[in-house]
Amino acid sequence: MTASIINGKEVSQELRASMTAEVKRLSEQGVVPGLAVVLVGEDPASQVYVRNKEKACHDLGFYSEVHRLDASTSQADLLALVDKLNKQESINGILVQLPLPGHIEEKAVIDAIAVEKDVDGFHPVNVGNLVIGDDSLLPCTPAGVIELIKRTGIEMSGKHAVVIGRSNIVGKPVSLLLQRENATVTMCHSRTANMKEITRQADILVVAIGRANFVDAEYVKPGAVVIDVGMNRLDNGKLAGDVDFESVKEVSGPITPVPGGVGPMTITMLMQNTLIAAKRAHG
Ligand code: GUN
Repeated sequence: MTASIINGKEVSQELRASMTAEVKRLSEQGVVPGLAVVLVGEDPASQVYVRNKEKACHDLGFYSEVHRLDASTSQADLLALVDKLNKQESINGILVQLPLPGHIEEKAVIDAIAVEKDVDGFHPVNVGNLVIGDDSLLPCTPAGVIELIKRTGIEMSGKHAVVIGRSNIVGKPVSLLLQRENATVTMCHSRTANMKEITRQADILVVAIGRANFVDAEYVKPGAVVIDVGMNRLDNGKLAGDVDFESVKEVSGPITPVPGGVGPMTITMLMQNTLIAAKRAHG
């Protein structure tokens, strides 16, 4: 049996359509969500991501600013720009594209972003609120993962969810969000012993380990939901997920492809965070 494919592009388009309608209503009341994106240097992948964010803002009717800074920009100058954006009323969300050049301390920059404008959800206060379960801006990729699982119609409550990968950006926050949905969560990572024995117990398997085609059919319980957060560039230039899609789809339940699964959701959730921040700023 072949599994159903979770179409992240389609879910993303549906969410964007309802956001566009909301932005139109808000702008009639004089509220236009504003996102500032800061790119330091010329990393090719980052340039593509930043262009996609700029386009999403344009498509949804957001105000946007993109600040492209030279790779030699000092940390002090970058912090000064963040400070200016923190105070700027037309800006509700600030995203400093990572990675930053080596001479700039990422933590210092993330910590400097106003908590209420941290649409990446990377600021320690937002991370802390996520742990406690308080209202916070949720990190975009993990929020997208949860949205895709919800769209399968499969209940998370009481299920065994296994997360492979423990990064601050994906693995850790995804595990917290799954717990918030009342799943029982196990975390696996590069040092986990007998990983297959654990993942084969998963009703929901989220893979974010950063190794191309790491998870094959032997890791997957028949019928399990499989969410692939991996984005690995192969030597032949092709994009591969962390899941061997062709073999896993023969045993799994609903599964995300790469590309076209989690990827399109990340920017959409960024737009959603900016919209939330704008609504909060205007009471
Ligand atoms: N670089 C790659 N992904 C991301 C992201 O989600 N946020 C930021 N700020 N930088 C990134």
